[in-house]
Amino acid sequence: MPADRTLSDDRGLPLPGMFGDRIIDAANSLARWSDSADGLSCTYLGPAHRAVAGELCAWMKQAGLQAYIDGVGNVVGRHASARPNAKTLVIGSHYDTVLNAGRYDGRLGIVTGLLVAEHLAKAAVALPFHLDVIGFSEEEGVRFPLPYIGSAALTGRFDPQWLERSDADGVTLSTAMRNADLDPDAISTLARKREDLAGYIEVHIEQGPILLHENLPLGVVSSIAGAARFAITITGDAGHAGTVPMALRRDALAAAADVILLVEQRCATVSRLVGTIGQILVPNAASNVIPGRCDLSLDVRAADDHVRDAAIEDLRAGMADIQRRRKVTIEIKEHSCTPAVACSQQLRKHLDQAIADAGMKPFALDSGAGHDAVMFDGLTEVAMLFVRCGNGGISHSPRETVTPQDADAGARVLLQAILALAAEAN
Ligand code: GLV
Ligand code: MN
Ligand code: MN
Repeated sequence: MPADRTLSDDRGLPLPGMFGDRIIDAANSLARWSDSADGLSCTYLGPAHRAVAGELCAWMKQAGLQAYIDGVGNVVGRHASARPNAKTLVIGSHYDTVLNAGRYDGRLGIVTGLLVAEHLAKAAVALPFHLDVIGFSEEEGVRFPLPYIGSAALTGRFDPQWLERSDADGVTLSTAMRNADLDPDAISTLARKREDLAGYIEVHIEQGPILLHENLPLGVVSSIAGAARFAITITGDAGHAGTVPMALRRDALAAAADVILLVEQRCATVSRLVGTIGQILVPNAASNVIPGRCDLSLDVRAADDHVRDAAIEDLRAGMADIQRRRKVTIEIKEHSCTPAVACSQQLRKHLDQAIADAGMKPFALDSGAGHDAVMFDGLTEVAMLFVRCGNGGISHSPRETVTPQDADAGARVLLQAILALAAEAN
């Protein structure tokens, strides 16, 4: 862990600037673990993933937290309350990444929570609740087509049937877990109980350009878009590229092109509705073979679940039409579906107040991206603090950037909000 250079003012609060460099240094340090030689890729239970978990756990122990890696790979560090029957305030985000990722998506929130908890632990601040900083093991849904494996386990939303899902190499989730010395049979024991939770706050890079455009370092999330993910399999007929006349073809890739345009056109009709085909695979592809099969991913999101569901219904109807017209079969399988989440008014108020107290303008914005916070909805109060994303707001890319000043502001606001919640609970 980059060294603690935190200096305090006469109220024991860290002076401005004291968290920022350490957050950036920590994210850089974690980024040296990658599954690929070029760029940052850290997917569930790969070698880089295991190394990052170990490093986070060691940092949490150095920070004075009670730390361990749980049965699904989440790294948990606690600044314990001395109160009997204390509830737990969770500060979390994820440490897995997309392929060729940025350094801050997920990790910014873990490291920010860790440094704030370290400050509280080292200053021996007594809280009326336990403070758990959690690095969730899986959020992106890259290796297995399942987002939120880590936070789903912690919130009792892990479906045991997921254990039979396979990665691209045919390894099931259950085998991958056993190979990493995790115990899939014990996942249900990780679930936190509603009555034990005091709330959930996630700090996250915005992953978009709004704060940059508003010239603001921080924003408080009002709602998180609901997301549905599907696997689409189009089956036609493989054939010889030189002999089969155009009119007699059942080309699966040409049908996929129609599906891609259908998604783009339907999702462009409503603001805050988005649809993406992010993966396309033609098995046994060759330049002289008519594609007989094409596998696609589909991701549809909206701030309003009705808007998203209406779009999905239209997309299904549109694909049925493409199927008839092109004489292919189109199979649509839903992988995951999470509803839109409204963030807690009470937690938002504390974050807004902390932002105002630090001399910044409170600002509310929606999240189009999914976050571990979604899994806590319905179980406890949920809030998110967004930190400005540089470079035009680009994320899921190595071009993702955050400044130490903005990261520092995020940490200080989180600390103030925790202290305000503690005062309220006392
Ligand atoms: C996570 O990054 C997601 O929104 O897909
Ligand atoms: Mn992400
Ligand atoms: Mn993320």
